[in-house]
Amino acid sequence: MKKVVLAYSGGLDTSCAVRWIRDTYGAKVICFSAFIGEVSDRKLLAKKARSAGASKIYIEDLKTEFVRDFVTPALWAHAKYEGKYLLATALGRPLIAKHLVQIAAKEKADYVAHGCTGKGNDQVRIELGVRSLNPKLKIIAPLREWGFGSREEEIDYAHQYGILISATKKSPYSIDKNIWGAAIEAGILEDPWKEPPADAYFMTRSLDRVSAKPFYVVIGFKAGIPASFNGKAMAFVPLIEKLNELGGRYGIGRVDHIENRLVGIKSRELYEAPAATILHLAHSELESFVLDREFIHYKKVLSEKYSELVYFGLWFTPLREALDQFFAAQQKRVTGTIRIKLDRGTATVVGRKSPYSMYSERLATYSKGDEFDRNAAEGFMKIWGLPYEGKSKK
Ligand code: ARG
Repeated sequence: MKKVVLAYSGGLDTSCAVRWIRDTYGAKVICFSAFIGEVSDRKLLAKKARSAGASKIYIEDLKTEFVRDFVTPALWAHAKYEGKYLLATALGRPLIAKHLVQIAAKEKADYVAHGCTGKGNDQVRIELGVRSLNPKLKIIAPLREWGFGSREEEIDYAHQYGILISATKKSPYSIDKNIWGAAIEAGILEDPWKEPPADAYFMTRSLDRVSAKPFYVVIGFKAGIPASFNGKAMAFVPLIEKLNELGGRYGIGRVDHIENRLVGIKSRELYEAPAATILHLAHSELESFVLDREFIHYKKVLSEKYSELVYFGLWFTPLREALDQFFAAQQKRVTGTIRIKLDRGTATVVGRKSPYSMYSERLATYSKGDEFDRNAAEGFMKIWGLPYEGKSKK
């Protein structure tokens, strides 16, 4: 009998997919669920999978691996697609691909399957990931193949086959979330002129509900890794959770983005990423303090490319790996503390400190004790401007 390992979320689509794959391919379906955000009810998830006809379910808490192997390099790369999107969803997909491949090997399955739609980026990320790791695996994408025309038809199908689906009212949006942030689309958001309704956001408060009193946070980094919160040592994962909660209360990290999808369309997506926003800010500010000008400026060019690779599903590629090494090369110096003020929807850096600081008050000062050699400036300019002397029209 064929065996299929399905990336299973417990939602309506993947629940119907279990049964649909079983019947259409005459296959045993093994479900795999990864927790990379909230940890949901394992028992309920397993019960749902069984009701849909799964023969086995793997449920794995992969938050630590996600943060270590995907979030950390993206933070070091300052990865932001089109300057706005911190890539939470995009970073989760290669992790899922990797585990699908591992479980398929363990189960001696020839197939993997996923519940991504046929017009999104996620199908690309998962399928390219799977194929770079094991090109022999065959991939099934039920949402591209089956004939359901609407959510209602899927619900009828679920009822018909006794598939357990959540009783909770379905959100009017399509949401994907993990510890690095949330993506919200569809419904009324498809009208690019309409302001997102208050209920579209769920990680961050709107400005009319945030405290008027600013809050200061001090984040400590050790060799590029966030390691403390207000002077107290904290591991990276709980620190992200803490900052999501705190930043959310101050309305930090909302983005309204018309993005260019890989599949050629523009789409409107809202993002919420309180912790990621604060940590990106803190990390790049610390780099500004401890790294030299040339490295920092050149890095920006590579960051742009890196973000595209992640967004475009090219995680498992030599270029992404090489770029990771480039960004990692200087992280030892990225040690120090950054003081940030959270104030009504914005996070602003207000202080920095580091044993690797390249900032010299003696050189920067306009007051007494200035050690900058002003006389050297004259000769420097003479030579720097030499190629251009008299070359421009008045
Ligand atoms: N547009 C984002 C990306 O391509 C998120 C995709 C999933 N979004 C969603 N709301 N389900 O990474």
